[in-house]
Amino acid sequence: MQNPGDHSWRQQNHIWTEDEIAERKQTADLKHVPQTIGERVLQATVRFAYHSFNFVTGYNAVDPPVSAIGYRLIILESVAGVPGMLGGMFRHFRSLRELERDHGFIFTLLEEAENERMHLIVCMSFFEAGPVTRAVVQVAQVAMTPFLTALYVMRPQYLHRFVGYLEETAVHTYTNIVKMTDTPGTQLNQAWKDVPAPKAAIDYWKMSEDAKWVDCLNRMLADESHHRDVNHALASMPTEALYGKDNPFVHEHIADYEAAVEVRAKRRAEQVLKRALKDLDADHRVSSDSPLSN
Ligand SMILES: [Fe+2]
Ligand SMILES: [Fe+2]
Repeated sequence: MQNPGDHSWRQQNHIWTEDEIAERKQTADLKHVPQTIGERVLQATVRFAYHSFNFVTGYNAVDPPVSAIGYRLIILESVAGVPGMLGGMFRHFRSLRELERDHGFIFTLLEEAENERMHLIVCMSFFEAGPVTRAVVQVAQVAMTPFLTALYVMRPQYLHRFVGYLEETAVHTYTNIVKMTDTPGTQLNQAWKDVPAPKAAIDYWKMSEDAKWVDCLNRMLADESHHRDVNHALASMPTEALYGKDNPFVHEHIADYEAAVEVRAKRRAEQVLKRALKDLDADHRVSSDSPLSN
C-alpha cells in the first residue's frame, strides 16, 4: 500500500523553499482595506468571529498554551476546506450550464480545498480530536456551508473577499504560533521545539526526513498567505474578467506540476540505476529479469 501521505496521484501543491517561506513571513501583516460597505461588513464578521474564537478557545497570543492550539487548528482547517470546493463546484456547474470555458479557475479553487484538507490531515496526525472538537467541526460545517453559498450566490467576489480576510487571520495565527515555538521559555517552545514532523507532512511538502513540527507550521503559514493573496486578487477582479479572462495564477500550477514531474523522474532514474547496480554480477555481467534488458 502506498504511504498515506504520498500524493503522486493528488493535485500538485507548491513545494516551498526556506527562502520563499522567509519572504512569505514578511507579508504577515498585509491587510486588505475594505473598499465598499459589503467588504466592511465581511471584514467585521471575520474579526468578530476571530476574537470570539480566541476567547472561547482560551487562545492568548502572548504565550498560548498547547491545549488551545490543537482544538483551534482542527476547527479552522476543517472550515477552511469548504469555500474552495464550493467556489470550484459553482464554477464547474456554470461552465456546463453556460457552455463556456472556465479559463483555469476551477483548478486553483479545488487545489486550495485539497491543500486545506491536507492541513487538517497533518493536524489530525498531530492532535487528538475529542468529542467536543468533533461536534464543533460538524456544527461549523453545517453553519458555514449555507453562509458561504449565500455569499457566492450574491456575488462570487464576496466569497473570495471573505476568504481573503479569513486567511489574513490564519496567517496571523500561524506566524504567532511559529514565533512562540521559536522563542525559548514559552509553553510552545517547551512542548514543540524538537518534535518531529508527521510522515504525512514530510511527504506532502517534500521535507527532509528529520523535519520538525515547526517546519510544518511554517509551510501552513506560507500556504495560508498564498490563499490570502489569491482570494483577494479574485475578489478584486471585475465579473467579466472573473469569467472571461484566464486565471492569473494558472502558470503557478504549471510550474509546480513541472517541478514535481522533474523530481519524480529523477527519483525513478535513481531507482533504475540502483537496480542495475544490484543486477550486476561479480563478473560485471548484467543478469536482470527485466524484459527491457533482453
Ligand atoms: Fe489551512
Ligand atoms: Fe487557507
